Amino acid sequence: MAVTIALSNQKGGVGKTTSAYVIATALKEMGYRVLAVDMDPQGNLSFSLGADTESATIYDVLKGELKPRYAVQKSTLVDVIPSNILLSSIELEFTGVRREFLLKEALDSLKGLYDYILIDSPPALGILTVNAFTAADYVLVPMLSDIFSLQGITQLEETIRRVRNYCNPDIQILGVFLTKHNPRTRFSKEVEGTLRMVAEDLQMPVLETFIRESVALREAQSLQCSVLEYAPDCNAVRDYGSLIQELMQRGLKANG
Ligand SMILES: Nc1ncnc2c1ncn2[C@@H]1O[C@H](COP(=O)(O)OP(=O)(O)OP(=O)(O)O)[C@@H](O)[C@H]1O
Ligand SMILES: [Mg+2]
Repeated sequence: MAVTIALSNQKGGVGKTTSAYVIATALKEMGYRVLAVDMDPQGNLSFSLGADTESATIYDVLKGELKPRYAVQKSTLVDVIPSNILLSSIELEFTGVRREFLLKEALDSLKGLYDYILIDSPPALGILTVNAFTAADYVLVPMLSDIFSLQGITQLEETIRRVRNYCNPDIQILGVFLTKHNPRTRFSKEVEGTLRMVAEDLQMPVLETFIRESVALREAQSLQCSVLEYAPDCNAVRDYGSLIQELMQRGLKANG
């Protein structure tokens, strides 16, 4: 059965999609069977993975109009269930009692086919993110070392706690990690120190690994190719490799 990881942070532009894209392709290269699920109406993960967003998407699946396996696209990088802007209407369209469980129920039928399922989520804590948390074994939180990011972390933890109480008792926070990080400036060191204090209070692990800035990462995403092939030695690719190792040392397993 696949281990499901949701990348989440309600703050925009912190590296959720980029992390899902690199981690998914890196796990695939390590030989695991990987599915990427785009739960963001922006469709950025679908784009990065070269998926077609005009045909079947996660929206059709959540609406119950398409069996999940028919929405899976075999992209050249990893298997992906894409999304597009239609997904943004879910908030208004779905008012049923089990609306938090739509994604979980869809992915249950695919879990036997993969080792890892990575879910990208939108920059909000609405029903799409709650669906991602309800379906996930783990949450992984990318974050920038800035003060606004720190302010949002308490709210994020509260949402996860609510999902744990009402929808998914087994959900675990794998950790918070810094992206586009430059550890050399005094300010980022200060923010990192504060993050460690805030996160400890909330019992959210802060990962040792951080991701450095790499232009090659942006280039690979715009070219819709694998950054592991495009720039295998760039800082960010090395950092994501270390991140995966750290996660595995912390107990993340395939087929958990
Ligand atoms: N380590 C990095 N080095 C350089 N650029 C990066 C890095 N990580 C992410 N980026 C770039 O930063 C921008 C925002 O990243 P990304 O789209 O992954 O964030 P996000 O959290 O998914 O945003 P949103 O909240 O809009 O979904 C993108 O242009 C991406 O290419
Ligand atoms: Mg994104």
